[in-house]
Amino acid sequence: MKPRPIVAGNWKLNKGPAEARAFGEALAGRLGDVPRSKVDVIVAPPFVSLPALKPQGFFSGAQDVYWEDKGAFTGEVSPAMLKEIGVDYCIVGHSERRQLFGETDRTVNLKVSALLAKGIRPILCVGEKLEERKAGIMYNVVRFQLSAGLFDVSIKNPEDIVVAYEPVWAIGTGNVATPQQAEDMHEVIRQSLEKRFGIDDGGRIRILYGGSVNGDNIEGLMDKDQINGALVGGVSLDLDKFISIINLIAKREK
Ligand code: PGA
Repeated sequence: MKPRPIVAGNWKLNKGPAEARAFGEALAGRLGDVPRSKVDVIVAPPFVSLPALKPQGFFSGAQDVYWEDKGAFTGEVSPAMLKEIGVDYCIVGHSERRQLFGETDRTVNLKVSALLAKGIRPILCVGEKLEERKAGIMYNVVRFQLSAGLFDVSIKNPEDIVVAYEPVWAIGTGNVATPQQAEDMHEVIRQSLEKRFGIDDGGRIRILYGGSVNGDNIEGLMDKDQINGALVGGVSLDLDKFISIINLIAKREK
């Protein structure tokens, strides 16, 4: 059986507390008809909007974290602080952070471990750049990001961690990966996870696809065996469009 799917919205630098509060209330109302057992919904707003979101029937996620609990680290936010305000998930290693803010596989690894230690579920993002795909090295790039990001990491159950495959060339471009391109990579990721965590846990960790997901392409992606949901950027800012993706996925679950 496929693991329960996830639809996660990554708001990036959008929506302050007032908008987040309104969106959270409206989303909670609209999710009333969607059985919780069918799909896990996550919304990841900017840090300052997290307390306003008030997740009901869905989960909250941060978009980044620092790995120390406290200290002289100006501008940073710790896993303990996220835990204190009830954050459930945290995106780590998003390609925008890798490209624009100097995130490395080493810092990704520190963040994943620190989050797990506090009981927050990391959503570990991996994905190749266009030139890496053109050079045919995409599988090795992603295998390396995974093994480095998960170095020394242990989990108690397969829901503790989520992996998001986000090809850099597909993010915010409208160039969604074909279902087969995504599935081929998800199979590679699945094999790595099974090797790393064993068949039982590794076989059930949720692997999301992200990059230009919308209501028109989600079903083709979800038809694939190893695609367990989506990390949605731009489209997650629009409540109606976000809900329609959630509904399409929930409808498919028996
Ligand atoms: P997009 O972003 O859906 O706007 O392409 C996805 C992401 O960056 O997580």
